Amino acid sequence: MHELSNIFQSADWKKEKHVPVIDAPEKAKKGEKLAISVTVGKEIAHPNTTEHHIAWIDVYFHPEDAKFPCNLGRFEFWAHGASTDGPNTSSVYTHPSITLTFKTEKPGTIFAFSHCNVHGFWMNSHELKVD
Ligand code: FE2
Repeated sequence: MHELSNIFQSADWKKEKHVPVIDAPEKAKKGEKLAISVTVGKEIAHPNTTEHHIAWIDVYFHPEDAKFPCNLGRFEFWAHGASTDGPNTSSVYTHPSITLTFKTEKPGTIFAFSHCNVHGFWMNSHELKVD
């Protein structure tokens, strides 16, 4: 059987520009609104052109002991310099970085997934303690 988990790649985000970097605290209080951000290309910039760009970032939270993770948000980036004049002519480019706010009663794991239209699927995770 072909496993989806084998399709998502991960690496040290300081050396690999595709890895989504999760900026979140290590610890939160129960029910507290928590702002987190996810950025692709934080240390090494990723190209953002009509031909080569980050298409989306998807963020999940998997509460400890839950069977499935909860989708916190999906962010699609549509401005890559494309226009009716041709590739890379509009001068408008979306930077693949998002911020969202959520709250949880339980500790768990934040997962971030991203997709480069040339280099495929990438992921990262971040453990969150809650007290
Ligand atoms: Fe890429």
